Amino acid sequence: MPPCRARPLYLDLMKRCLANLIYGDANIFPGARPEFDPARRADARDWPAQAHTMIGLKRLDNLQQCVEDVIARGVPGDLIETGVWRGGATIFMRALLEAYEEPERRVWVADSFQGLPLPDAVRYPLDRGTEVLHGYRELAVPEDEVRANFARYGLLDERVQFLAGWFRDTLPTAPIERLAVLRLDGDMYESTMDALVSLYPKLAAGGYCIVDDYGDLPTCRCAVDDYRARRGIRDPIQVIDWAAVYWQKSR
Ligand SMILES: C[S@@+](CC[C@H](N)C(=O)[O-])C[C@H]1O[C@@H](n2cnc3c(N)ncnc32)[C@H](O)[C@@H]1O
Repeated sequence: MPPCRARPLYLDLMKRCLANLIYGDANIFPGARPEFDPARRADARDWPAQAHTMIGLKRLDNLQQCVEDVIARGVPGDLIETGVWRGGATIFMRALLEAYEEPERRVWVADSFQGLPLPDAVRYPLDRGTEVLHGYRELAVPEDEVRANFARYGLLDERVQFLAGWFRDTLPTAPIERLAVLRLDGDMYESTMDALVSLYPKLAAGGYCIVDDYGDLPTCRCAVDDYRARRGIRDPIQVIDWAAVYWQKSR
């Protein structure tokens, strides 16, 4: 019998839908040209007016590879994204669990659901000047809207767990035991460091840490470099595209 094509076709269609490469929608990045450009969308170089994720196809492919690998090798733990916007990457995580008939792993959806925080330049001097991110109201997506997006794909159930609030308040006490994939997309130094401090120790050996903005936001890169230096992490950083990176935790 030929191998079943339904799973790869479903996952491919999910990626195209989540990035809205199907119908195409305008770019709402402040000051940018609004015309839909499929190459820029696929490369995560715009902010979609309607699509459920802004991370583009290469990063969705990377997320798929990481989740498929932890499933194939039995690396224990749940999946999380810190900084979900309209929820697209976490919806894709839930779709992957469904496609592989994974019965127990959960997907954690962590966000303020009100955009980025104002910078605390005393504790995190590198975040000075990021007020502009707080000002982007396009990045503030209410939790109800994210839940509704999961429901649109038939993927909202009790295995999707929401952590609503600032990472500094929600992540230290989040009832997460173990993670197999940790995806960071909070942009700022504070947001990246808070997620690493609370969650990286819970990442299982063999699991993946994915960082969305390592290559384009110095705030994010410095937080990752500082954390890795402090914890003596030498696992090689792999490039996904012009901005995103990941590494596999060896121990
Ligand atoms: C660039 S968007 C994430 C894009 C998303 N991963 C996707 O698939 O399109 C950044 C998100 O991080 C959230 N965020 C950033 N810093 C945060 C913090 N310290 N606490 C809670 N949410 C935060 C914002 O609310 C926003 O939804």
